[in-house]
Amino acid sequence: MERAKLDWSNLAFQYVKTDYHLEYYFKDGKWSEANIVESDRVELHIAATALHYGQQCFEGLKAFERADGRVSVFRVDENAKRMKRSAEKILMEPFPEDKFIEAVFKVVQLNRRFVPPYGSGASLYVRPLLIGTSGVIGVKPSTEYMFLIFVMPVGPYFKGGLKPIRLLVEEEIDRAAPLGVGDVKVGGNYAAGLRASHKAKSLGYNEVLYLDAKHKKYIDESGPANFFGITQDNKYVTPASSSILPSITNMSLRTLAEDELGMKVEQRPIDVEEIFDFKEAGCCGTAAVITPVKSIKYRDREVTYLQGDEVGPVCRKLYDTLTGIQLGTVEDKYGWNFEI
Ligand code: PLP
Ligand code: COI
Repeated sequence: MERAKLDWSNLAFQYVKTDYHLEYYFKDGKWSEANIVESDRVELHIAATALHYGQQCFEGLKAFERADGRVSVFRVDENAKRMKRSAEKILMEPFPEDKFIEAVFKVVQLNRRFVPPYGSGASLYVRPLLIGTSGVIGVKPSTEYMFLIFVMPVGPYFKGGLKPIRLLVEEEIDRAAPLGVGDVKVGGNYAAGLRASHKAKSLGYNEVLYLDAKHKKYIDESGPANFFGITQDNKYVTPASSSILPSITNMSLRTLAEDELGMKVEQRPIDVEEIFDFKEAGCCGTAAVITPVKSIKYRDREVTYLQGDEVGPVCRKLYDTLTGIQLGTVEDKYGWNFEI
């Protein structure tokens, strides 16, 4: 295999065209086999439910070239399950979990030359997408669907990698309602969050930190990632909320914090006032990995956890353990890596 010619250590989190993507079609009650496609365009019915009524959901996961030169994907079974939950919540035909895993393997194999080399700090981001394709103009579920999956080599989501970010607590804009669809990965949640992110960025922050929409009191999550805090007595605390996406990275960190760092883990409603007592905080997700939080602004107060570009010891240790498992330099006791 001849690797693609890219500046691997300086990749951003942005679209890069690779060689192939896969498409599967649901019609007459069954899913087709994979169609291997070179173009990065799709043709859709002008009345497709995905275009008008947001009948779509997606996933995000990463493949890594490990220290031993093999390629593995991280916890793909969990993404397969979550996509099924997302689909069911908005009455879409779910894509079978075993087929999802097969599709991930196949699309990575077909684009093997785009998997960033071990040590570059980059990875291959895999983006599965499920859309309603029937031309139905009444508000009702589609009868036909397309599942497509593409990949792109990426660097860190937040510029600079393990570089601390500043968050702004948002009180005027909600991302998701408690009984809505904030707990699944549907595009509408991201559209709902664009204004808040834009506002935070225009005020000089890197991202927004949402509060729960009902009480405006408890922390929900950040735009593209979950939130966690480290308390003075060394607990890993992370919000329990019906309006946040259950992050697979966060689930992994809860395990690592408990098993590897000997910390107590609490998943519970977190009063926003608690941010003033944390010793460290972080955002976590597939794209964000672990991004340390430098400071959080809430109303007229700002709490600062870190000076300059320093990274707190707990975030550092969690980051090293998680990325070590993904890259094959720390033993994968949990069976999280799926070798391709
Ligand atoms: N929260 C939101 C809104 C996200 O988009 C993501 C990214 O997938 C996450 C959290 C993190 O989830 P995961 O760790 O499964 O990537
Ligand atoms: C991910 O981390 O995979 C995401 O989907 C976050 C973002 C790019 C929307």
